[in-house]
Amino acid sequence: MASAVVSFHGQHLSGLLGSRDRAMESLKSEASTWAGAAPFGWHSLRSSGGLRMEWINCQASRGAALRMNTERSGSGSLLGVRCSASGSSTARPASQPRFIQHKQEAFWFYRFLSVVYDHIINPGHWTEDMREDALEPADLNDPNLTVVDVGGGTGFTTLGIVKTVDAKNVTILDQSPHQLAKAKEKEPLKECKIIEGDAEDLPFPTDYADRYVSAGSIEYWPDPQRGIKEAYRVIKPGGKACLIGPVHPTHWLSRFFADVWMLFPTEEEYIEWFTKAGFSDVKIKRIGPSWYRGVRRHGLIMGCSVTGVKTQAGDSPLEMGPKAEDTKAPSNPLVFAYRFLIGTIASMYYVLVPVYMWLKDLVTPKGQPI
Ligand SMILES: C[S@@+](CC[C@H](N)C(=O)[O-])C[C@H]1O[C@@H](n2cnc3c(N)ncnc32)[C@H](O)[C@@H]1O
Repeated sequence: MASAVVSFHGQHLSGLLGSRDRAMESLKSEASTWAGAAPFGWHSLRSSGGLRMEWINCQASRGAALRMNTERSGSGSLLGVRCSASGSSTARPASQPRFIQHKQEAFWFYRFLSVVYDHIINPGHWTEDMREDALEPADLNDPNLTVVDVGGGTGFTTLGIVKTVDAKNVTILDQSPHQLAKAKEKEPLKECKIIEGDAEDLPFPTDYADRYVSAGSIEYWPDPQRGIKEAYRVIKPGGKACLIGPVHPTHWLSRFFADVWMLFPTEEEYIEWFTKAGFSDVKIKRIGPSWYRGVRRHGLIMGCSVTGVKTQAGDSPLEMGPKAEDTKAPSNPLVFAYRFLIGTIASMYYVLVPVYMWLKDLVTPKGQPI
């Protein structure tokens, strides 16, 4: 049995606190996101005190059972939803191609994307507000903390970290020298250590850092469980990992493009990976641009911030075989070109989604779901 606290940002809460029907629809859609895929059957749906729902059980499609309990303050306002999931493994079928979820493809993807990354990704998918919201559970509250930012790229997330942590205690690691070149140009990051490396095989000693942060990188790791196991290894006992990543879309068209492009994990998968790696107190906080109004059916490239605490010194208790992929290993150029091209075309869909949602937010009256 794995469990997590899911907190919603204000936009979403106001959606839930409307009429009973709307609240039910919102919670059904949230539960569907949790279940990962339709169809799922409702076990029960109850309300108490007129408009309020107290709990929902549903059966997820892959055999996992799910329970959502609403948490309310004394005055009745909704504080959050506690979810617990249990059941079978959430391993994905191999049939989903995810053409850029490979190290060489990701390397070349960022060879080109690094040129415009800060200009097109951040305004649409990863704003400063979202970054503050996502880093809040990492407890970066002491300038003396040792922090590693894995898949740190151009340093956008690191700029949030160095607001409270001394830059000389922060290391940015990425497999793309092109992304890191952009980070090196940023004045507040001048004192950070900036190194090339692989998230699945970190060049840090065991029990090294107080905090592990990784934002928007897991979607490219061929073996995300291995990356999270590495996060566990490099943190000191009592330290915390904070992994910010995408969430899987439930809308069929968005799911199609997401699955062709890269890995959009379900929330259950994040919890399972963290729990298996050995983390305690695993929590998920939902994030998103304000103009999405909490909508998650199209997925989000930055959709949640997952945290876990390491309680025991040493390596992760999880045993794994050798690493599957290496950036430097030779590959078949035709297979590479095919994967790279189709994956890149699919990624374009997610340039259009924020524009669509932003326009929808403009035309839909405030307070109504979009
Ligand atoms: C979407 S960018 C995120 C950059 C940055 N964290 C931010 O918040 O803007 C993803 C980054 O992950 C890096 N990456 C992908 N796979 C990686 C791996 N296996 N090891 C290290 N970095 C990786 C990419 O090179 C890229 O810079």
